[in-house]
Amino acid sequence: MPGRGLGMARVLANTGVARDTVVLTMAIDLPTQARPGQFAMVHPMRTDCLLARPFSILDHRDGELDILIKVAGKGSASMAVARPGDEMRLFGPLGQSFDAPRLLDGPSIFVAGGVGVVPLHWLARDLHSRGRSTPHCIFGGRTPADLPTAVLTQYEPGWELWVEDGATESLETGRVTHGLQRALEATPGAAVATCGPTPMMKAVAAICEEADAPLWVCLEEQMGCGAGVCRACVIPSASGDRMCTVCKEGPVFAVSDIQFGAAVAS
Ligand SMILES: Cc1cc2nc3c(=O)[nH]c(=O)nc-3n(C[C@H](O)[C@H](O)[C@H](O)COP(=O)(O)OP(=O)(O)OC[C@H]3O[C@@H](n4cnc5c(N)ncnc54)[C@H](O)[C@@H]3O)c2cc1C
Ligand code: FES
Repeated sequence: MPGRGLGMARVLANTGVARDTVVLTMAIDLPTQARPGQFAMVHPMRTDCLLARPFSILDHRDGELDILIKVAGKGSASMAVARPGDEMRLFGPLGQSFDAPRLLDGPSIFVAGGVGVVPLHWLARDLHSRGRSTPHCIFGGRTPADLPTAVLTQYEPGWELWVEDGATESLETGRVTHGLQRALEATPGAAVATCGPTPMMKAVAAICEEADAPLWVCLEEQMGCGAGVCRACVIPSASGDRMCTVCKEGPVFAVSDIQFGAAVAS
């Protein structure tokens, strides 16, 4: 289990990457041994927010951490306007990373929506740079303005990009689930990982069930403590005999281990 810590993080840079979306680069005093899929609880300073907010780790280097923030409410709004020199309290890395050999070593397809691209982007870069595998990566947003394209170019094989409105030559029009169906036909037997809005992940689950493709989901439940104490984030296990804490036992789960439920694929 990687080391965890609580400390002050100092903002080094705030870079706009898409509509209402920034990447904060922060200096932290803590040794970071984070793995893709893990997250940090970040307390937005200068607000009346009592609780810290969970954010996936986009990348980390010695003494530096990147997180991507899309404005959703007052906590993320206050973080998105942070300036170099501002400080925030940070607790992490937390949760379990993607660790299934079937997903990491064989042919795989990653399907991301919205801020769900953060953990999958890091995982894809990590696997590719270590020569372990080259996932087929599919990402969707509502319009081109919602895609953090400057961030996505860091994965050299590239992301297949889908938008619902306003597609240009390099973008596909429609939903990521269409891209997934096409990719599964081209690569039967591929394992799938997904992160994004729940309706999208349920549609991905339906397609994977139909295609008999193993699926891992990275859940973005609302959280209170992030440490397995408050139980604000629980979901039922597959057998229904207990509740799993997303913050501690997840956020990454094999979909066969939890009651996730598939939506009717469209
Ligand atoms: C493990 C994990 C990783 C995450 N990674 C990222 C990330 O990399 N980048 C990013 O921008 N966001 C990420 N999120 C979501 C982020 O934590 C929420 O957007 C944030 O907590 C909202 O706080 P707020 O104070 O801005 O909004 P609030 O005022 O608390 O809420 C604003 C609105 O957003 C809804 N909301 C709050 N939290 C969530 C949630 N978890 N899922 C869906 N709706 C929610 C509320 O119900 C409300 O409608 C992640 C969440 C989890 C659990
Ligand atoms: S957020 Fe408190 S137990 Fe998961």
